[in-house]
Amino acid sequence: MSESKKCRVAVLFGGVSSEHEISLLSASSIVENLSPEQYDLMTVGITKEGRWLLYTGPVSALRDGTWEQTGLTVPAFLSPDPGVHGLVALEKDGARVLPVDVVFPALHGKNGEDGTLQGLLQLSGIPFVGCGTLASTICMDKAVTHSLLSAANIEQAHYLWFYADRFPVAAETIKKKIVARLNFPVFVKPANAGSSVGVSKVDAPEGLDAAIEKAAREDHKVVVEEGIDGQEVEVAVLGNRDCTASIVGEICASASFYDYEDKYINGTSQLFIPAHLEEETAQKVRETAVRAYRLLGCSGMARVDFFVTREEHRVILNEINTLPGFTSISMYPKLWMASGLTYGELLDRLIDLAFQKAGIERGQAHG
Ligand SMILES: Nc1ncnc2c1ncn2[C@@H]1O[C@H](COP(=O)(O)OP(=O)(O)O)[C@@H](O)[C@H]1O
Ligand SMILES: [Mg+2]
Repeated sequence: MSESKKCRVAVLFGGVSSEHEISLLSASSIVENLSPEQYDLMTVGITKEGRWLLYTGPVSALRDGTWEQTGLTVPAFLSPDPGVHGLVALEKDGARVLPVDVVFPALHGKNGEDGTLQGLLQLSGIPFVGCGTLASTICMDKAVTHSLLSAANIEQAHYLWFYADRFPVAAETIKKKIVARLNFPVFVKPANAGSSVGVSKVDAPEGLDAAIEKAAREDHKVVVEEGIDGQEVEVAVLGNRDCTASIVGEICASASFYDYEDKYINGTSQLFIPAHLEEETAQKVRETAVRAYRLLGCSGMARVDFFVTREEHRVILNEINTLPGFTSISMYPKLWMASGLTYGELLDRLIDLAFQKAGIERGQAHG
């Protein structure tokens, strides 16, 4: 392929999110695996303060978080004007436009996975990897996801939710409702967060205040769910309207639940691919994942997480992650690798899907 035929990809990373650091790891893996023969790569970091910087340094500094101090950055932002169709970099001698064919957002959590960034991407007219605004917003909010999936008879844990600012004025009423409606242990979580930030397992009513205060620090809505005693399994869905589910993977947390330390620090939780499930149950997990994905209007990719109860093997949907962890050892890519795709092929496929959704042939993208 000649230089001029390369596809110009902008990988976005970082973000104003409690999952900023995880995004650096996901983006590093993506950058390292996009074939230089096929792609011209631009990397754009969003700092924790929300500044947009075009970064031209090595991946190592992206991975370890020192990229901002390298001096290899220049302020740059994505234009919402489809006529620009790219990044505007504010160089010393003036603004320069860098045309972009496709954007790969590698951000997790708030301000990246929640539809805010996707709104800008939609305005920009540039094809982008993953879900659009509505599906991203719905899946980010556990209370909204729960409401929509209950209406479709997809089984979930019994739950309730409330606005965090109601708690200081109505704590006793809210706690009474929790005790009346849900069996302990319960899980208390922020409706909008990720990576288990702000999530607590509460064994008895006395623990509710502290857990609710913790969740309320992360979001304006708090969700309380009945604890499910079961296996934790995850499935990777890939595609637009026409989508497929991977084989099912399983997580065995080493802590009392799959919390932040267990996910990223201890390294002692285990992943099993395939999950220890009977074929019939695995099939139900895959079917339910595809049904939820279609129902909520997902596109590109999503990882759909479930519990399978120990005795009855009930399949209970936990949550849908529209920008799941994407390092080469993360569940989403690993599930596809176990199904025969390499990590690089998975990236190609996601980029193809972005063009397909935008109704553009990959080759036509070159302006
Ligand atoms: N209802 C529940 N029953 C049992 N375990 C739960 C429940 N909700 C959450 N957990 C545990 O807490 C972890 C984090 O909760 P989750 O809802 O997945 O939030 P996050 O979006 O932060 O990943 C899950 O991976 C699981 O280990
Ligand atoms: Mg989760």
